[in-house]
Amino acid sequence: AAVLQKRGDLRRWPREGAGAVVGADDYRERFVRAYDRLRDELLDDDSCELTDEARRWIAQMIDYNVPGGKLNRGLSVIDSYLLLKQGSEVTEDEFFLACVLGWCVEWFQACALLLDDIMDDSHTRRDQICWYRRPEVGLRGINDGILLKCHITRLIKKYFREKPYYIDISELWNEIALQTSLGQMLDLISTHSGANDVAKYNIEVYRRIVKYKTSYYSFYLPVACALLLSGAKLENFSGLRDILIEMGVYFQAQDDYLDCFADPNTIGKIGTDIEDHKCSWLIVQALGHANTNQIEVLLRNYGKKDSASVSKVKSTYSTLELKDMFFEFEDRAYKHLVTSIEAQHDRAVQEILKSFLKKIHRRKR
Ligand code: FPP
Ligand code: MG
Repeated sequence: AAVLQKRGDLRRWPREGAGAVVGADDYRERFVRAYDRLRDELLDDDSCELTDEARRWIAQMIDYNVPGGKLNRGLSVIDSYLLLKQGSEVTEDEFFLACVLGWCVEWFQACALLLDDIMDDSHTRRDQICWYRRPEVGLRGINDGILLKCHITRLIKKYFREKPYYIDISELWNEIALQTSLGQMLDLISTHSGANDVAKYNIEVYRRIVKYKTSYYSFYLPVACALLLSGAKLENFSGLRDILIEMGVYFQAQDDYLDCFADPNTIGKIGTDIEDHKCSWLIVQALGHANTNQIEVLLRNYGKKDSASVSKVKSTYSTLELKDMFFEFEDRAYKHLVTSIEAQHDRAVQEILKSFLKKIHRRKR
């Protein structure tokens, strides 16, 4: 309760001249409202001679891909920023800049998911047909993904080029783009080469893939943005970064569990990890615990598109009690994260990490 009280106080910033305490819902609403402004500014950017038709395409493409997620990553920029600023006032302008960076993280996520769905041959995302599966889009979606990435650079230039941390923030985004693309590459090259390669899946291979493809952009990036915005230097926060990366691994293991076991209506997408021959947390655990016969069944059926093969993999998962194994992993991972968080000396850092962990612990979607 003390923590909540404190977090409530931290959401204080001047509004229309008054020092009103703004609740969590209110700041979510303000964040959501900032989207319209950023979207319209990108559409009104007349440096590129956009035709009406081009403007319509971009508007529809952004609306389809950017705002429809849980917004956890974007809101985490604001959450973290308010925690870092504790004690001092946050002006309207500063709050808006945190919203810009929050939306840039959501833009990045939209870009990664749009492109990932093409590569993973996915069908649905966020309760709708994947963008590239729309008849008028197809592989043109690749260019839309590139465009979304360019929008981020544009927004950061527009709002931060005069700031003393402009080089730092530009380098941060470049570095994260490189890490995420490399993570995606590791994910993809682990998938294509048949049974021999499945046998090579292990937890170290898994951790390396997800650290790069998920952790950096989903967990470290929002906090790093908030740190730079609050005037901090990133090199002083390597402990914080390492815990966020660990949290990302836990988050991706949940994603893998949900891909196989959750109701597609709940997660808004149909899982494809078994068909796609992915190095997922589940296959790594299955291979580590299976007997010779079960391993043979897994190697023969993993990575096949037909439903009979997928069912054989799933029934082996069930015999191996992988659901229970996952719940035990989840408890262990959670406890380990709590211990690492409590060992942090900086109070704001602790609060940022706790707030993140709370958002994902035992998540169902
Ligand atoms: C989803 O993973 C995808 C990612 C975590 C990252 C994809 C990254 C790229 C396509 C590179 C993007 C590069 C830039 C510069 C933005 P998943 O397939 O395990 O999750 P899913 O079940 O949600 O599809
Ligand atoms: Mg995917």
